[in-house]
Amino acid sequence: MTVMLKKQVIDILRVLKEKNRELIASKLAKELKIDYIVLMSAINDLIQYSLANFKEEEIFQVSLNKEGLDYLKNGLPERQLLNILLREKVKEIELSELEKKITLDKQLFFVGISNLKKNRWCAQSKASGTNKIFLITEKFPDTDLELFLKKFENNNSLDYNSLSKKDLIQLDILNRRKLIEKVQKTQRIIFLTKKGKDIKISSIKELKQISKITAEMINSGTWKNYDLKPFDVSKPGPLLKAGKIHPLINLINEIREIFLSMGFTEIRGPIVESAFFNFDALFQPQDHPAREMQDTFYLNNPKVAKLPDKDKVKAVKDTHENGGESKSRGWGYQWDEDIARQTVLRTHTTATTIRRLAEFYENNDKTPVKVFCIDRVFRNEKVDKSHLAEFTQVEGIVIDENVNLCDLIGLLAEFYKKMGFKKIITRPGFFPYTEPSMEVAVFYDKLSEWLEMGGSGIFRPEVTYPWGIKEPTRVLAWGQGLERIAMLYYGRNDIRDLYINPIKWLRNQSY
Ligand code: PHE
Repeated sequence: MTVMLKKQVIDILRVLKEKNRELIASKLAKELKIDYIVLMSAINDLIQYSLANFKEEEIFQVSLNKEGLDYLKNGLPERQLLNILLREKVKEIELSELEKKITLDKQLFFVGISNLKKNRWCAQSKASGTNKIFLITEKFPDTDLELFLKKFENNNSLDYNSLSKKDLIQLDILNRRKLIEKVQKTQRIIFLTKKGKDIKISSIKELKQISKITAEMINSGTWKNYDLKPFDVSKPGPLLKAGKIHPLINLINEIREIFLSMGFTEIRGPIVESAFFNFDALFQPQDHPAREMQDTFYLNNPKVAKLPDKDKVKAVKDTHENGGESKSRGWGYQWDEDIARQTVLRTHTTATTIRRLAEFYENNDKTPVKVFCIDRVFRNEKVDKSHLAEFTQVEGIVIDENVNLCDLIGLLAEFYKKMGFKKIITRPGFFPYTEPSMEVAVFYDKLSEWLEMGGSGIFRPEVTYPWGIKEPTRVLAWGQGLERIAMLYYGRNDIRDLYINPIKWLRNQSY
């Protein structure tokens, strides 16, 4: 039978013949700079022709543990201590002084001191009243222990059986200093059979490697004369730069899922909003600082907005002036319809949830009404790494009978738990349209910090009464910015990254 082998297998056979002795497979693979698996599969091919074989042997190996590796890099504690003395050019030092200069824990510090003395580099004395150590020699060659430690510089592990008696003594010291790990391994020894030793390389036919197989080859059976190039399934495929959903949209979709799973329905509202719905309907007085030009983008085109029915506008006007039906005293000023008609870019999604409130009575809605809004809002902010002038808010409201602050806290807890935050706290807060109002913070494990998430509260009667939502029906509400959460989720520390689209980062996001 003619021996037919791949080129690589022939090369390995040649090496085995040249070395002409038993070889440790893992070492040979390293020496030939090929994968262990590739080598063993070549040996397998040789076994098919009874040219070679292997046997297994149990071996013990020793390697350094984490602390040992640390000392290999930075020196044993005694060497580190000595280096301080040499660097500072002092011949004696108080123990407490020396301890301050090194970042070893107390126990290791004393191990170091004790070995300084054992190595006869230092002596210790309390004669002067303080506890001092003194250099007692001028030369500090590597100790036997250090020389042995250095053997690990080029080898992750050493064969226990190959260690000399001298080495074993040092190994024992390292072991007692708890710097050693021991592993038991099975090792394969490769050797040639008599046939393998006798065969002439020139008599071996080389199997040609091909990467394609044709119908003809299969029909004629000649495919057997070829070595089929294997697929390396561990190699990464070509990089696909296909379009994918932006991470921010992915996050929005996740939050949308959370609301939907809690029985909420999504609402949307206009971006170009009337001051009426953005502010007045939320009982924000017309001289409220948030309305000022530096916060709100007012529009010239369109310049005026349509207001709802006259009676509704009047109800809001009355509430501002004297509390209307809400039993409040109102703000006590002359409400101006022209100010309410101004057009703005929505500064918060609460403008949209209030529009939903406004429909409640007319729709003859049945409680509970649970809606959410995830949408774009605008504020005249100076853009920097933590501020945008155009961002997204996430907001939810529940209109129901007899709901109270505990219900709201329960909702918040459930919502944020689904967002992946286990701990939440609420603190008193203030918004012109809610009473009581709460700020919500969540515990962020990665930073071990409480992070302010957003606001919440129960809409004031001054907000709900004009729309016919009256005791015992109340409205729970909460809202927050989306981009801050996105920064946490995606580990970005510049909020602008979410919009300028750093391509490298986007490419690494999942589909
Ligand atoms: N609208 C508030 C904001 O923009 C958030 C909020 C929503 C507060 C609902 C209370 C109730 O920050």
